[in-house]
Amino acid sequence: MPTPHINAPDGAFAPAVLMPGDPRRAERIANFLMPDAEKVSDVRGIGAFTGEYNGKPLSVMASGMGQPSLSIYATELFQFYGVKRIIRVGTCGGMSPKVKLGDVVVGMSAHTDSSLTNIIPGIKYAPTASWNLLAAAVAAAGDDQVVHVGPIVSRDGFYGNDPDGVKKLADHGTLGVEMESAALYTLAAQHGAEALTVLTVSDHLFDASQDMSPEDRESRFEGALKLAVAAAHS
Ligand code: HPA
Repeated sequence: MPTPHINAPDGAFAPAVLMPGDPRRAERIANFLMPDAEKVSDVRGIGAFTGEYNGKPLSVMASGMGQPSLSIYATELFQFYGVKRIIRVGTCGGMSPKVKLGDVVVGMSAHTDSSLTNIIPGIKYAPTASWNLLAAAVAAAGDDQVVHVGPIVSRDGFYGNDPDGVKKLADHGTLGVEMESAALYTLAAQHGAEALTVLTVSDHLFDASQDMSPEDRESRFEGALKLAVAAAHS
């Protein structure tokens, strides 16, 4: 049954959904992996696509930017469309000196300044990825890919974050910053589902000298996508 933000019929989604932030990227991913994919929803320009990849059903749907937007789509997919796994594929700002532009970061856990993860009174909930999905993604990495696994941070604001706080997070091993995963991991846990985030480092917070060509960005993104698909179909 259609929901307030998804106008697809029951059964329109595969059990596994790849979820980039950008709706145009969702369409490109769907076309790239599944040329015969069907568009199953398009409310507010957020296209959702379902098809088969390697003989197995797969859906792709964008989250929009930020945890409130992702939470709407992830909740409706888990609760009303029987989705069991959401794998976010996106970009992050590198924070750790170990992380370089174009590297892949797999978010094992996600710190956040969002109140969306305050789900149990008195508890600072620790949003955590699904181990099964994480292990499958890492196992699918090729020898030529640099893949970092560890904590990321999901912030509510893109601009104006306190530089000291960002530095402290980096000093505590945080690999990268993005805006969606802590809410995704929390929602997956609330719905007895699984979630993972696979990110390409698109810029670096402490090293503006690093730069990547558009071609590089696309090919590196395809590398991250390979890990995400492996997790989705594991
Ligand atoms: N914050 C900072 N830099 C980034 C982000 C973010 O959320 N995403 C990609 N680069």
